[in-house]
Amino acid sequence: MDKITIVGAGRVGESTAQILAQRSLCKVLALLDVKEGAAAGAALDIQEAAPLFGYDTRVIGGTKAEIMADSGLVIITAGIPRKPGMSRSDVVDTNMGILDVIMDEVMEYAPDSKVIIVSNPVDFLTYYAWKKTGWHRSRVLGQAGVLDSSRMAAFVALETTFSVKDINAMVLGGHGDAMVPMTRFTTISGIPIEHFLDQEAIDRIVERSRFGGAEILALKRNSSAYDAPAAAIAEMVEAIVLDRRQVLPAVAILEGEYGQKDLAMGVPCVLSEEGMNNVVELPLNDSEKAMFDETIVNIKNDLKRLK
Ligand code: 2OP
Repeated sequence: MDKITIVGAGRVGESTAQILAQRSLCKVLALLDVKEGAAAGAALDIQEAAPLFGYDTRVIGGTKAEIMADSGLVIITAGIPRKPGMSRSDVVDTNMGILDVIMDEVMEYAPDSKVIIVSNPVDFLTYYAWKKTGWHRSRVLGQAGVLDSSRMAAFVALETTFSVKDINAMVLGGHGDAMVPMTRFTTISGIPIEHFLDQEAIDRIVERSRFGGAEILALKRNSSAYDAPAAAIAEMVEAIVLDRRQVLPAVAILEGEYGQKDLAMGVPCVLSEEGMNNVVELPLNDSEKAMFDETIVNIKNDLKRLK
């Protein structure tokens, strides 16, 4: 890909830029942030690391939206983070206002791009961005499930002491406390985790995954997580840029899948050069259905703001 823009040069934006450059996923990587010097400084810092890592990506940064001109992919991390004790939905009004301005800029300067929303509450904001653009749903998606699944896989590794290499976890639903860790589809070398872990350990993993973001926020106090979020974004970007047709959980606009339409939430998707190529619909058992119902109630609550 020729050009990728990251909007928001905070910790998530900067870490993501560093990983994308290291993986040489585009020729030009632009960072945009309204805060004077933040994007330019981060871009220069990453550029200066290029000789050490050996990437030729040109990294630029600035405060003017023109910097995103002709990007094939725009990643939106801008917004206020929640503080300890807040839910992701508590920042919805502020972040909706910020996203509104950014999406106008994306439509003007990168009208043919695909957009990955990272800012929270991501399910709501992905829907909002899609609705505003009127674009095909394949071009507007959100990041949550790759991060939540990585957290779950990390916790499975810690509980079992097995290598993360062969662990596949899957977390669907909304990126909130009612997210849906799919233990039935969580495996170690293809073997369901029930083979290695008792129910108590699995319950611990599920709970810890649901509150993975909050656990880090409570520890750091003045910052949300950014290392794992950035790695998760990079995973999605790679799937799209390299047209891998990778099956990953992503926030997608639903058009009848899982019995829902006109909302966005985390579901397994095929990611390709189209962006969100298609939604993979899994048959749910009764307990999974109950968890989906709960997560959908929360998503619809946020969406009431738009009615
Ligand atoms: C997280 O889960 C901030 O939503 C982000 O860490």
